[in-house]
Amino acid sequence: MNVLGIDTSCDDTAVAVAADGRVIRSSVIMSQTRLHAEHGGVVPEVASRRHLEDMRPAVTRALKEAGIGLDDLDMVAATVGPGLAGSLMVGYNLGRALALGRRLPFVPVNHMEGHIYSAWLDPSRPPGSAPLPAEPRFPLLVLIVSGGHTELVLMTDHGAYRRLGATRDDAAGEAFDKVGRLLGLPYPGGPSVQRAAADLPVGHKFIALPRAWLRGGYDFSFSGLKTAVLHLVQEQEGQPSPPTRADWSLGSAEPTAQPALPTAGEGSPSRQRSGEGSRGVSPEWVSAVAAGFQESVADVLATKTATAAREFGVRDVVLCGGVAANEAVRQRLRAALPAEMVLHIPPPALCTDNGAMIAAAGYYRRDTAVAPVASPDVQPGLALPL
Ligand code: KG4
Ligand code: ZN
Repeated sequence: MNVLGIDTSCDDTAVAVAADGRVIRSSVIMSQTRLHAEHGGVVPEVASRRHLEDMRPAVTRALKEAGIGLDDLDMVAATVGPGLAGSLMVGYNLGRALALGRRLPFVPVNHMEGHIYSAWLDPSRPPGSAPLPAEPRFPLLVLIVSGGHTELVLMTDHGAYRRLGATRDDAAGEAFDKVGRLLGLPYPGGPSVQRAAADLPVGHKFIALPRAWLRGGYDFSFSGLKTAVLHLVQEQEGQPSPPTRADWSLGSAEPTAQPALPTAGEGSPSRQRSGEGSRGVSPEWVSAVAAGFQESVADVLATKTATAAREFGVRDVVLCGGVAANEAVRQRLRAALPAEMVLHIPPPALCTDNGAMIAAAGYYRRDTAVAPVASPDVQPGLALPL
């Protein structure tokens, strides 16, 4: 069954064709990153206008690369929410119109379910070059870490979810993006923070930062960690309001280490990284903070997920969403889980937004297909159906 998957929830126009929810026949992503970079974040109005321009070329390319025509489609799936209203409307309405015109079933897909089903996709290139990997087995523990969400979910069947925990403030990706901005790194922050951390010279220590454990549950908190980075930057730049001890204790947070002094470029802050590094600080210092921040996020995510996996006796775990592209997060979780558990992490390109994951979710949730004319409107604040 060929499913056309469309996602325009944020700033990428993504269209793909996937067969039977698993085999990617084409995946087109028209990125708007450069368009928004000068603003340091997504400008909703600009995003929806660009979606309007890119939507049709993206569908045409996705069909061409899959080697099929509209007549070969069996179903259309498009993201209904959560996301930016103006952006969602473009892809969703095109999906509905296509389904209506072709008399095809139409599945409104929850973007978060899309991320989950990225774990069902076969990442092999070319498609079919290797036997299909085993599907994730229920009950399944899923950690969704994206720019808008951080949720730990127990999935007992297709479409059956129980939320174990979620972020109480910033999503993990949001924290990466904000910290990237604080450190003066290029937009988007997530990949930049990873690159800066990887640039930490061998033998240099990262700057240890606190972790908010919020013991006794599976909720997360990242805003205190972000504030800790803000205070470090202010201190380093000689601005007022340096961090105090009190600033480092985030509710029931337990700093695992004292914030260390910068290990490189000490006392000689430079401006070498003009346009990249934060003003008045050395690239080594930026790398040391980026690595410390990444370490704190990865540690909390991995530790809590591994604890939940044991408590709920699952055999399989899925890590998905844009932050799942982060190498430290991937490695930490791999290391934290018992060897007998199977961890499914899509390749980085399938962790960030794409149309194939929407096609996969549409296939597995085809019981929720609706007549295009009767389909609900976009739902920017949609949550996982619990
Ligand atoms: O899932 P996604 O593409 O869009 C949303 O649904 O939000 O996630 C985007 C988020 C952004 O915050 C981005 O900075 C983050 O994922 N991200 C990363 C990495 N790649 C993307 N965060 C950390 N390390 C990465 N390599
Ligand atoms: Zn996403």
